[in-house]
Amino acid sequence: MKSGSQLFNGIDIGGQQLMNRIVLPPLTRSRATDDGMPTPLMEEYYRQRAGAGLVISEGTVITPQASAYARVPGLYSAEQVAAWRPVVRAAHHEGAVVYAQLWHVGRQSHSSVQPDALPPLAPSPVRITGYQYRSATGRIPYETPRELTVAEIAGIVEAYGTAARNAISAGFDGIELHAANGYLIDQFLNDGSNHRTDNYGGSIANRTRFLHEVIQEIARHLPMERIGVRLSPSSDWMDAHDSDKLTLYSTVIRQLNGLNLAYLHLVEPEIAGSTTVDRPADSIPTEKLAALFDGVVIVTGGHDQASAERLLADGTADLVGFGRLFIANPDLPHRFRTQAPLEPLRLSGIYGGGPEGYTDYPSLATSNT
Ligand code: PHB
Repeated sequence: MKSGSQLFNGIDIGGQQLMNRIVLPPLTRSRATDDGMPTPLMEEYYRQRAGAGLVISEGTVITPQASAYARVPGLYSAEQVAAWRPVVRAAHHEGAVVYAQLWHVGRQSHSSVQPDALPPLAPSPVRITGYQYRSATGRIPYETPRELTVAEIAGIVEAYGTAARNAISAGFDGIELHAANGYLIDQFLNDGSNHRTDNYGGSIANRTRFLHEVIQEIARHLPMERIGVRLSPSSDWMDAHDSDKLTLYSTVIRQLNGLNLAYLHLVEPEIAGSTTVDRPADSIPTEKLAALFDGVVIVTGGHDQASAERLLADGTADLVGFGRLFIANPDLPHRFRTQAPLEPLRLSGIYGGGPEGYTDYPSLATSNT
């Protein structure tokens, strides 16, 4: 091991010991069945990447309405729970801790993939502009979502709890709440997408109410110390705009302090969903936000081994996620440890298809060094 390296130090999260500080972050790969069932191919994919200290599943939807895309897995039926079990077992096989990311896309969905072809649901009827929906037949404009009623919000909160309970039943050690990237929870947080005049809109205290109701509901089914929260405070991807992101996300993070969560997972400012862009003008340095949190911090977005070591050394992060590097290098921890060369990412096969671009990246002979 390189002297001064911290990536291979252990760390405790939620009462579990991780073997390193390397995270497989949530990555949508669209290899589930059309009804959201995990597949043997997914089992192979996670087994290949099980050398991470923490494996976080791809975004997994809590209800059929929560999905934007075909072949995204779910955690809302008994059949899905059963189909997840071998996948979660494979992810565990080298000693990783394995969390499920729970996902609801809100207005990022489209009637073409919604049950009964109804419009997507969101805090307010505010359409995404400046981006296009990735439909089965190409890019098309987003639709104006329908505003959720208070009763429907309560139903979604309950569905998060059920999905969390299902995750534990499937063998996951904990869950990560996807509150980033302009999806449903983030749509409640940002005043650009939340125009509500009831208890869920207006003040920051009201816009964070949905997030807290979801956390409290999930905590009925598993300990707080097994719940992580993912935020992308600087991203304006998918029209995620707030008039004062610094105040909003500083408040969100301070509110999370004291809950005894597993971790806070921060997406770097130059990440727009799945790609790297220029930092938005109102972006907030990650170290500034990380310093506000009193627990474990994961940072993900565009990092390599050297920059990850710097994040660990300067105290910004406790763990670092490597998305694109992990897609192309299933044995990434082994390669980091041995200073082996890295395989480049191929764009074909990122979303959907079969093994090509998914499970056909080579692992070097594993000697467990
Ligand atoms: C994607 O499918 O590109 C994607 C999914 C979830 C995210 C970001 C990007 O949070």
